[in-house]
Amino acid sequence: MNAPTTPLPIVVLLSGSGTTLQALLDEIRAGTLNVEIKAVISDQPDAPGLGRAEDAGVETCALLPGDYPEHQAFDRALASCIDKFKPKYIVLAGYMRILSESFVERYAGKILNIHPSLLPRFRGLNTYARVLDAGDPEHGSSVHFVTAKLDGGPLIMQARVAVLPQDTEESLSARVKEQERKMYPAVLNMLAAGRLEMKDGQTWLDQQALEQPMEHPL
Ligand code: GRF
Repeated sequence: MNAPTTPLPIVVLLSGSGTTLQALLDEIRAGTLNVEIKAVISDQPDAPGLGRAEDAGVETCALLPGDYPEHQAFDRALASCIDKFKPKYIVLAGYMRILSESFVERYAGKILNIHPSLLPRFRGLNTYARVLDAGDPEHGSSVHFVTAKLDGGPLIMQARVAVLPQDTEESLSARVKEQERKMYPAVLNMLAAGRLEMKDGQTWLDQQALEQPMEHPL
C-alpha cells in the first residue's frame, strides 16, 4: 500500500456564504480530501463563510477594503496575511474582489478559482440570469487556474448541467452548486497528489498539457 501523502496546505479566500468552503471542510472531516486549510480570509468581515471556518476550528482573518487607500495596497496586505500561513495554493471560493495583476503574478500558477459557468461562456457576474436570458441548453461550472485575465485562466475541469424549461436562477444554481461541491474537492485532490500544474499558460495533468478541460464527474 502507498504511504498517504501529506495534506496540501491551502488558504481559502471568500466573500460570502461559504457553501463551497463547507463542502471542502466536510470532505476533509470525512477523510476524503487531502488538504489542510490553514486559514480562511475574507474581504467581508460579516461573511457567513468566516463563521463556518471558526466552527471547524480553522483560523480566520478579515481585511476591510475601506482601510486601504487603493486596490494594490489592499492586495499587498492580503498577500502578507496569506504568507503568514505558508500555503502551497490559494483557493478562491466565492471571493468577489478582482485580484490585482501584481497579486496574481506573485502567486503565478498557485491560485485556483471555481466559476459558475462553462467558461469561456459567461465570464463575470450574474451567470445564472445571463444563461437563462440567452436560452442556452446547458450551464455548469468551471475550475481554473487564475491569471490576470478575469475568469480567463487555463481550465482544469468542468461540470455540465442541463437547463430545464421551468428553471429559475435559484433552481439552476442549486443544481450547479451540487456539482461544484464534488468537483472542487476532486480537483484539489489531484493537486495534492502533484498531478496538476499550470505551465506555459496551460494546465498540465500528469506531465501532459491538457487539450480540453476534464469533465466532472470523471
Ligand atoms: C460558487 O457557486 C462559485 O461558483 C462562485 O461563487 C459561489 C460561491 O458560493 N465562485 P458560496 O459563497 O460558497 O456559497
